[in-house]
Amino acid sequence: MKNFLSAFSLFITCIALHAQTATYKEQYRPQFHFSPAINWTNDPNGLVYNNGEYHIFYQHNPFENKWGHMTWGHAVSKDLVHWQHLPVAIKEENGIMIFSGTCVVDKNNTSGFGQKNGPAPMIAIYTGHTDTIQSQHLAYSLDNGRTWTKYKNNPILNLHKKDFRDPKVFWYAKGKYWVMAVVLPQEHKVQFYHSKNLLHWDLLSEFGPAGDTTGIWECPDLFQVPVADDPLKNKWVLTMSISTAMQYFAGEFDGVVFTNENPADKIYRPDYGPDFYAGITYNNLPILRKPVMIAWANNWEYANDIPTKPWKSAMTLPRVFSLSKLNSEWLLRVQPLEGVEKLREKDFMALESHIVNGNENINLKSQQFEMELDIQPSSNGTSGVKLAVGNNHYAEVGYNSATQKLYLDRSNCANQSFNKNFANLFHFETPLNEINGHIKLRVFFDNSIIEVFANDGLAAMTMQVFPDAADKGITLFSNNGSSFFSNVKIWKMKSAWE
Ligand code: FRU
Repeated sequence: MKNFLSAFSLFITCIALHAQTATYKEQYRPQFHFSPAINWTNDPNGLVYNNGEYHIFYQHNPFENKWGHMTWGHAVSKDLVHWQHLPVAIKEENGIMIFSGTCVVDKNNTSGFGQKNGPAPMIAIYTGHTDTIQSQHLAYSLDNGRTWTKYKNNPILNLHKKDFRDPKVFWYAKGKYWVMAVVLPQEHKVQFYHSKNLLHWDLLSEFGPAGDTTGIWECPDLFQVPVADDPLKNKWVLTMSISTAMQYFAGEFDGVVFTNENPADKIYRPDYGPDFYAGITYNNLPILRKPVMIAWANNWEYANDIPTKPWKSAMTLPRVFSLSKLNSEWLLRVQPLEGVEKLREKDFMALESHIVNGNENINLKSQQFEMELDIQPSSNGTSGVKLAVGNNHYAEVGYNSATQKLYLDRSNCANQSFNKNFANLFHFETPLNEINGHIKLRVFFDNSIIEVFANDGLAAMTMQVFPDAADKGITLFSNNGSSFFSNVKIWKMKSAWE
C-alpha cells in the first residue's frame, strides 16, 4: 500500500510538473509575440534599451496562472522579436507587491547608486502596493538588470493614498532633470513630478480629467513623437489606459505643463480593438529612433479566464509611432516595428488583382501569418478578410463602406463561453476614410492574436480569438456588392521561440 501511495504521489507530481512545462507549441500560444513561459502576465513594465539589449519586465505572478503576488518578470532581446527569459527581477516582499513602473539608465549617476568604473546603474521605479497604500518605490541594478536591490529608504514618493500608481520616468534633457508621470486613477489625473536624483520628487503640474473618463486611469506615459512629414519636428504625446482601452493626447510639454492641442471633445486611441492595454514606450532608445510601444494584448473584462495554459496573456507587437496633422488634428500613425518581417517564410502567396463578390476561400490554411491587402470596397457593403475559418467559424477583419468604419468581429469564432464579457465584447470599430477609394490593410494573425494596421497606420486594432485548431481557413469577402482586391500577399510566419 505504501509503495502504491508513493508511486501515486510521484505520478501526481509528474502531472503537476508537466502542467508547468512550457513548450511554446501549446494551442493558442503566440509564436511571434512575447509571452511568459509559464503563469500569468499583465502590463509590460520598465521597457528600456541598454548596452545593445531591449529589456522587457512584466507584471507577473510567479506562482499561478492568474493575477496575484505581483512581481516583475524579465526577458531581454537583441531585436525585439526573439526573447531570452531571465529570472524574476523584482520580487514581492514584506506584503508589498511590485506593481507597474518604469526603468531608466542613470548614465550620469545622478542617483549615486553607481560604483566607480562600474556600468551605469539601471533604476526601476515602480508602485509598491499594499491593500491600504500605493506609493512609488525604487530598486537599482549594477549588473545590466540581472540582479536588483530595493532602495533601503523606500518609498521615494508617498501621498498616503490608496490609489496612486504606475510611474513612468524619463530624462528631460532640456531641463536636465528627470520627469515622472504617475496617475491618480479615481480622479482621472496624471501628475508630473521632477527630480535631480531620482530619489527626491517635487510636483510640477497635473493633467486631467480629460477625454475618456469612463473608467479609472492607469499606466500613463509622456514622450516625444516625430512629425511624419517633418521628422526633425517633434510633438509631445501623453497616453494612458482607461480600464479597458487606451487614449492619447498630442501637444506640447514645456518641462512643467503638458498642453493638449487636439480638440478636447474628441477621444483618440492608439488602438481601437478590445485587447490593447497598459502600453508604455521604451526609454533610452538610440537618438533618432521613433518611440516604440508595447502593450498588454488582453482586457481586464475577461483576462483571468482566457483558456490558455500553462501561461496567460501575451504582449502586442512592438509598435512605432509618428504623428500626422490632418484637418487640424494630430493623429498617431501606428506601425508594427520593422524586424518582424524576418520571421516571414521565404515562399509567400500573392494573388492576382480581382473582383470579389460574396466569399472566396484562399488556397492556404494557417493560423500564423502576415497578410497585406488593398481593397476598393463596394459603395454600400462590407468587405475584408475572414480568419480562422472552418466549421462555420470565423473572425472578420472588415470595412463597412456605408459607415466608413474599419471593424474587427469575433462573434462567429469558436470558444467564447469561458467568460460572458468576452462573448459580449465581440464587435469593435473605428472611423477610417478611404484614400482615393482604397483601404490598405496589414494583418497579423498569431494563433490567438489578430493585429491590424490600416492606411499606413492611421488606425490599429488588436483582438484575441481562441479558434479550434482545425479552423485554419482564410476567406476574402464582399457582401452587398463587389469589391476589388489587389496587392494581396500572405506570408506564413516562423516561430520566434524555436
Ligand atoms: C494595469 C494595472 C496597473 C497596476 C497593475 C497591477 O493593468 O492595474 O494600474 O500597476 O495593473 O498588476
